[in-house]
Amino acid sequence: MISSSMALQAFSLHPSALSSHKQGKANVGLKESAYLGFHLSGHVEPHVWPLLRQSKRSNGLTGIRAQTTATASPAISRAPHEGKKMLRKGNVVITGASSGLGLATAKALAESGRWNVVMACRDFLKAEKAAKSVGMPKDNYTIMHLDLASLDSVRQFIGNFRRSGMPLDVLVCNAAVYFPTAGEPTYTADGFEMSVGVNHLGHFFLARELIDDMVRSDYHSRRLIIVGSITGNTNTLAGNIPPKAYLGDLRGLSGGLKETAGSPMIDGGKFDGAKAYKDSKVCNMLMMQEFHRRFHEETGITFASLYPGCIATTGLFREHIGLFRTLFPPFQKYITKGFVSEEDAGKRLAQVVDDPSLTKSGVYWSWNKHSASFENQLSEEASDAQKARKVWDLSEKLVGLA
Ligand SMILES: NC(=O)c1ccc[n+]([C@@H]2O[C@H](COP(=O)([O-])OP(=O)(O)OC[C@H]3O[C@@H](n4cnc5c(N)ncnc54)[C@H](OP(=O)(O)O)[C@@H]3O)[C@@H](O)[C@H]2O)c1
Repeated sequence: MISSSMALQAFSLHPSALSSHKQGKANVGLKESAYLGFHLSGHVEPHVWPLLRQSKRSNGLTGIRAQTTATASPAISRAPHEGKKMLRKGNVVITGASSGLGLATAKALAESGRWNVVMACRDFLKAEKAAKSVGMPKDNYTIMHLDLASLDSVRQFIGNFRRSGMPLDVLVCNAAVYFPTAGEPTYTADGFEMSVGVNHLGHFFLARELIDDMVRSDYHSRRLIIVGSITGNTNTLAGNIPPKAYLGDLRGLSGGLKETAGSPMIDGGKFDGAKAYKDSKVCNMLMMQEFHRRFHEETGITFASLYPGCIATTGLFREHIGLFRTLFPPFQKYITKGFVSEEDAGKRLAQVVDDPSLTKSGVYWSWNKHSASFENQLSEEASDAQKARKVWDLSEKLVGLA
C-alpha cells in the first residue's frame, strides 16, 4: 500500500494529473505529472570570431505565456529551409546522456541521421554500454567525459570539445541528481551542495562558457535547452506539496551553499534533499529565461526549457527507498495517469532540439495528453526576472566568472 507521505512525494515529483493552472484546452487537468570518438562533418570552423559581448538588458519576460491552442508535433520533423546549411549534421551536446531522458533523447536524435550526438557523461563506460544497448548508430554519436560536480571537469570538457573542432549547434543541459532521503548534504569538488551544484551551477558554468561557441556555429537553428520540472513550479498543485521550492532572498547561495558559510540551501534553511532538487530546477528555469533576455536578440539563439512529463522509471529515483521505486511507476500509470515512457519523453526533448515549429525563445514547453506541445506558464518565482538576475550574478561569482 502506498503511504500518504509516499503519495505526496510521488505527486510532488510527477503529478501528471494535478495541474491547477491554465495551459490550453487540450490539456486541462492533465499537464502533470571516458574516450573520444569524433565524427567530423565537413564543416570548416571559422578561425577568428569576435567573442560575444554580454548585453545587459533588464526588460521583463517576453516568452513565457500560456497559449490556448496546442501545437501537434508528435515526431521530429524537418526544417523548412533545407538549404546549404543542412549539408552537415548538427552537433548536439547532451549532458547526462547515459540514462533516462538523456539517453532516450540521444537515441532519437542519433537515429534521425541528422545529428551527431555528443554524450557528455561522468561515467564513460556506462555511457558507451548504454548507447550500444539501445542500438544507437555508432557513426552518429561521440562520448566525452563531463562531471558536473567539478568545475575543473567542466573546464576540461570544454577544452576537449573545442579541440575536437566540432561546431556547437545545440546544448542540452539535462543531467541531474536528486537526494530525497538524504539526512545530510553532500558536496561537489568545489564545495557546493550537490543538487544545486550539479543541476544548476555545473550547467550554468558550462552553458555560460559555451555560448560563445554556439555564436560561432553556422547551423540554421542553434538552441540552448535547460531541462526544467513541474516540481519547481508552485503554480501547480504538485508544486505546492511540501517541501516546496523557494529560493527566498538567496542568502545560502550568496554563501556558496556551504554549511560553514551558513547553509547548504539556497534560501539559507535547513538541508532538505527534496527541496534542494526543486530549488535547483527553479534555478534551471530562471537561467533559461535570463539567457534569453541577455542573448537571444543579439545572437538569434533559441533558449528553452521543458517539463518532459513524469518518467517514473528513470535513475533519478535511485536514491529513493526500494518500495517507492517499485510503486512509483504503477502509481503514475494507473492513478495519476501522468506516466510517460523514457522513449516518449526522449522524443519530446528531441522535438525541442530539432523541430522547426519549436524555435520560439524563452519558452517552457510541456505536452498535453495527446502529446501535443504547448507553451506552459511558470510560477511567479520561476518567472521572477529580478530574482533571475540575482541568481545569475551570484552564480557567476561562485563559478569564477565574475
Ligand atoms: N524522471 C522524471 O520524471 C523527470 C521529470 C521532470 C524532469 N526530469 C529531469 O530530466 C532530467 C534527466 O533526469 P532522468 O529522469 O533521466 O534521470 P537519470 O536517468 O538519473 O539521468 C540523470 C543523468 O544525469 C547524469 N549525472 C548525474 N550526476 C552527474 C554529474 N555530476 N555529471 C554529469 N552527469 C551526471 C547521470 O549520470 P549516471 O548515468 O552516471 O548516473 C544520468 O545520465 C533531469 O534534469 C531531471 O530533473 C525528470
